[in-house]
Amino acid sequence: MTLRRKVIAGNWKMNKTAADGVALTKDIVAEIGREATVDIVLCPPFTALESVGRALEGQSIKLGAQNMHPEKSGAYTGETSAEMLRSLFVTHVILGHSERRTYFAETDAFINKKVVAALANQLKPILCVGETLAEREAGSTLAVVQRHTEGGLAGVTAEQITSVIIAYEPVWAIGTGKVATTAQAQEVHAFIRDLLTKLYGAPLAQKVRILYGGSMKPANAAELLTQKDIDGGLIGGASLEARSFIDLVKAADAAS
Ligand code: PGA
Repeated sequence: MTLRRKVIAGNWKMNKTAADGVALTKDIVAEIGREATVDIVLCPPFTALESVGRALEGQSIKLGAQNMHPEKSGAYTGETSAEMLRSLFVTHVILGHSERRTYFAETDAFINKKVVAALANQLKPILCVGETLAEREAGSTLAVVQRHTEGGLAGVTAEQITSVIIAYEPVWAIGTGKVATTAQAQEVHAFIRDLLTKLYGAPLAQKVRILYGGSMKPANAAELLTQKDIDGGLIGGASLEARSFIDLVKAADAAS
């Protein structure tokens, strides 16, 4: 669908020193620095944001963070504010990743505060939603996705919703090599788009990008990216190596 520009976002997770991140960024920029048809976002760890940002100067590739604290400033040891991210020219921020929900006990209410704070500071949230294997097997996939989506978007206005990117990431497919089938993914993406339609009306819902995440690789990307409601990918493992990340951008370009 030409209405929505595809997005390929690399979530490096806790990988890459600043020097390693710059080297990877330079390899990516060398091939697709001015790629025009796909929005590309690199999300390094906090310690590499500044140097990767410098390596992206003058390029169309955007810089994203992997987390953010909702408060402006204060006694929150180890945390990072929206303003701090903005000062490093960060434009996107991954929020509510399942690893944050699982290992750091993040709730929908806390993630929602971050989404609202990010938008108030002109940062585009990449809000992650998705069920665990147990939840899928219990038949509660759509209920979980609805809770994550509505909970994460509480208080987000019609003016703001098109700045939000949603990433559907079935937890059982993350880093496991088990990719959701295109039918499984498309079903949930369409469900999310229906939810957005109920919340914001069809014209706005049609503009929101919904990414798939979970073992997306060059080999399975083309099929996923040509589904009606799949507007790109949030890529973990395959974003750590220039070749596979570039091939994913090319797959998104071809599916545009
Ligand atoms: P993966 O991770 O591509 O390594 O499965 C995706 C993610 O967690 O964002």
